[in-house]
Amino acid sequence: MTSWNPVEVDVATAGADFWKRYHTFRRLRHAERRPDDPITPDEVVEGEMKRVDPHELHFRYEISKGGQMLSWFSAGATRPGAPGYDTNKHLLWADGSVHKDHRRRGIGRTWIPLTLEIMDRNGYTTVGMGTEEPSGHAFLKWLGAEAKLTGAENRLKLADVDWAMMRRWVDEGPRRSPVTKFESYDGRLPEPMLDDYCPQLSSLLNTMPFENLDHGEIVVTPAILLEWFARMDLSGQVGHWMMTREPDGTISGITDMFYAPYSPNIVHQGFTGVRGDARGRGLGKWLKAAMAIHLRELYPKAEWFTTDNASSNAPMLAINTKMGFRTYRVGSEYQITRDQLAGRFKELANTR
Ligand SMILES: CC(C)(COP(=O)(O)OP(=O)(O)OC[C@H]1O[C@@H](n2cnc3c(N)ncnc32)[C@H](O)[C@@H]1OP(=O)(O)O)[C@@H](O)C(=O)NCCC(=O)NCCS
Repeated sequence: MTSWNPVEVDVATAGADFWKRYHTFRRLRHAERRPDDPITPDEVVEGEMKRVDPHELHFRYEISKGGQMLSWFSAGATRPGAPGYDTNKHLLWADGSVHKDHRRRGIGRTWIPLTLEIMDRNGYTTVGMGTEEPSGHAFLKWLGAEAKLTGAENRLKLADVDWAMMRRWVDEGPRRSPVTKFESYDGRLPEPMLDDYCPQLSSLLNTMPFENLDHGEIVVTPAILLEWFARMDLSGQVGHWMMTREPDGTISGITDMFYAPYSPNIVHQGFTGVRGDARGRGLGKWLKAAMAIHLRELYPKAEWFTTDNASSNAPMLAINTKMGFRTYRVGSEYQITRDQLAGRFKELANTR
């Protein structure tokens, strides 16, 4: 079998030849996975990759031959000392892909010793990898990784939405929750509200179902949000936030959406969450319907809303299905421990 040589990529110093190879490979993968969607422009991707990440560590490698990229591997983990580090420090998240004309030649398995080396060097004990492609499922099962969380990208076709029903959901909101205040922000959230908003957002994010996934706590701080906003500036992304607030100041529900100028027809729905003690009052429907009506007015070219949901998130899926969201791509998040991966690597070396 040919031996392949992964080379570490430092995006801060990589030259034009690297970026040419990288974007060609990225385009090929895009055509394979999302052929009908707009592709993120090269300069946006480059800007985001080159920006120093104060909260996450990134590991990037390529396998190339004769000026052509055959495979790209990247992994990330919480940076020591960053918010949430204590409960996330054992976890590495990896993603790898191989040029479709060069699969089943042993390139993918080249990432096994490299992953082990990254894990040992940094003390990670579990690695997670996601896929929505049959080749990815087959490879990850062959590796011995276990599917821990299933989910899907769901899409809503705006032309099919029952807008009268959306307006009813909005009208019912204040009727069922007369003392609840409704807030809406376009562009960026005002900085002075971040100290109050971030802990409440974090607590809502941690109510998301993770099924059997080994995961740490999600901790969003003002510094994390400001870094996120700075990254949004690189692509001209516009954020939209709506929330409900109870008379004591508690945020009882949140929804956010993100519009990117290079993707005028597909708008991303981010997170929607309603506190456990405020569920059953129609706040989720109020928030989502108000946002849908608002964005349809703001972005007349929008044809689709897209969002990712865990398959087990019944309350969210119930609202989304009523709105008309339909499954677009199903995927799974797999995990394997460092010791299981080392065992598999040894087994493969012995069967050569
Ligand atoms: C998953 C992927 C990276 C595998 O790359 P690859 O170079 O083909 O992998 P290898 O040749 O090292 O395959 C190792 C073993 O995995 C299994 N496997 C890989 N792809 C398979 C497929 N399409 N069908 C069945 N088994 C498969 C086989 O047992 C294979 O060994 P074999 O060819 O000797 O039978 C590649 O298919 C890909 O890029 N898929 C899309 C991206 C993706 O889903 N990545 C998920 C991992 S993060």
